[in-house]
Amino acid sequence: MSKTKLNLIAAACENLGIGINGDLPWRLKKEMAYFSSMTSKVRDPAKKNAVVMGRRTWDCIPSKFLPLPNRVNIVLTRHVDDVKSKVPEGVIVVSGLDEAISHIEGREDIESTWVIGGSSIYKAALEHKNCGKIYLTEIQKNFECDTFFPKFDKKQFVLVTEDGVPEEQQVEGDISYYFRIYKKL
Ligand SMILES: NC(=O)c1ccc[n+]([C@@H]2O[C@H](COP(=O)([O-])OP(=O)(O)OC[C@H]3O[C@@H](n4cnc5c(N)ncnc54)[C@H](OP(=O)(O)O)[C@@H]3O)[C@@H](O)[C@H]2O)c1
Repeated sequence: MSKTKLNLIAAACENLGIGINGDLPWRLKKEMAYFSSMTSKVRDPAKKNAVVMGRRTWDCIPSKFLPLPNRVNIVLTRHVDDVKSKVPEGVIVVSGLDEAISHIEGREDIESTWVIGGSSIYKAALEHKNCGKIYLTEIQKNFECDTFFPKFDKKQFVLVTEDGVPEEQQVEGDISYYFRIYKKL
């Protein structure tokens, strides 16, 4: 049986918007640092985490930050050969979420799996039997967006807390937000 739990991580505003024009609708430095820390930290220093993303999310990240350091970067596309020819060595390119999971389970150096967007990849992960937790930064404001986190049935999840994840309201400039963790029942 497949043992890979999928952790989704996203920042969304009140209307569940996550992106606009291939970019983030906001600049939140501490939120970005949270994303980097959560997706990078490992208990076993001999291992790394995997970050699983759609091809557009890969394209949206400035190239100086790619591949995301200290993580195994996995990109989903329906044009595997084309994308493979464009990404740096070491980046894994696959044709779907199950293939990503098979790759992860075929190696022993991956500790946790983080699904980092965008919309359709989050949706596939939410519907997948291996869906584990959603680490959702809930921004207390509305932004104009063209890309959204999928609506999910909150009755299928329970809010949990975790060491190292602050429960209190975070404030950056005039934007406030909470780090929430929804665990699949
Ligand atoms: N706020 C956040 O937390 C957050 C997180 C991530 C992204 N974003 C934002 O979201 C936007 C990008 O996300 P997006 O939803 O537009 O795109 P995306 O999901 O990152 O990428 C879509 C692409 O992924 C591939 N794909 C999708 N489903 C697939 C499947 N089932 N099997 C194989 N390949 C599949 C296809 O690539 P091909 O076209 O190559 O076939 C598709 O065009 C940007 O604005 C970004 O800034 C925000």
